[in-house]
Amino acid sequence: MRLLAFAATNSRRSINRQLVELAAYQFKRDVRTDAQIEFLDLNDFEIPIYSIDRENESGLPPQAHAFFEKIGAADALLISFAEHNGFVTAAWKNLFDWMSRIDTKLWQGKPMVILAATPGPRAGAGVLQSQELLAPHFGGSVRGSAGIGRWKEAYDPEKAALIRIEDQVALSSALAALAPEHAQGTAPQ
Ligand SMILES: Cc1cc2nc3c(=O)[nH]c(=O)nc-3n(C[C@H](O)[C@H](O)[C@H](O)COP(=O)(O)O)c2cc1C
Repeated sequence: MRLLAFAATNSRRSINRQLVELAAYQFKRDVRTDAQIEFLDLNDFEIPIYSIDRENESGLPPQAHAFFEKIGAADALLISFAEHNGFVTAAWKNLFDWMSRIDTKLWQGKPMVILAATPGPRAGAGVLQSQELLAPHFGGSVRGSAGIGRWKEAYDPEKAALIRIEDQVALSSALAALAPEHAQGTAPQ
């Protein structure tokens, strides 16, 4: 199965990138050993801020089509959302808006797990809640979510692993929910 994984941020030192990487490798190790992981970096899809005038003048940027097609080619999506002012980053919202002009159902029916890493204690509660609520409207099916707060204390960069048991459990159950029929060592749901 093809797993598309990305952090919804354009930070080059992204903590959400760290989280989505460890989660994707854990998914392959513990849930679907046949997973083929593709990571995307939003910086490779940078485009001007959406405007109806730009769209009318020049149409949709090829990067929006390219990202949309990557979603379409995947069997499942693993996304870690950076939280900016309680919502998604401007970088992701911009790409999202452009893609929504291809098709409002831009998640294309894919099963998704959504994650968030934050430096503070709220663990991306705002962005996770909004994305879970909105996903069905955009053709997405959120199977699980996990927010990891106080990232510096939560993450061991040398082991590329989560330190706190409660975070490990939250991530494991979110990932298992992405492919319950193939999960190893988890009770049927
Ligand atoms: C404009 C801005 C707004 C932010 N708003 C929030 C917020 O609402 N909640 C939060 O937990 N952290 C917030 N932060 C801190 C981010 O969580 C932090 O920068 C984090 O590293 C972003 O994830 P990333 O490294 O993957 O880009 C904000 C940061 C910036 C620059």
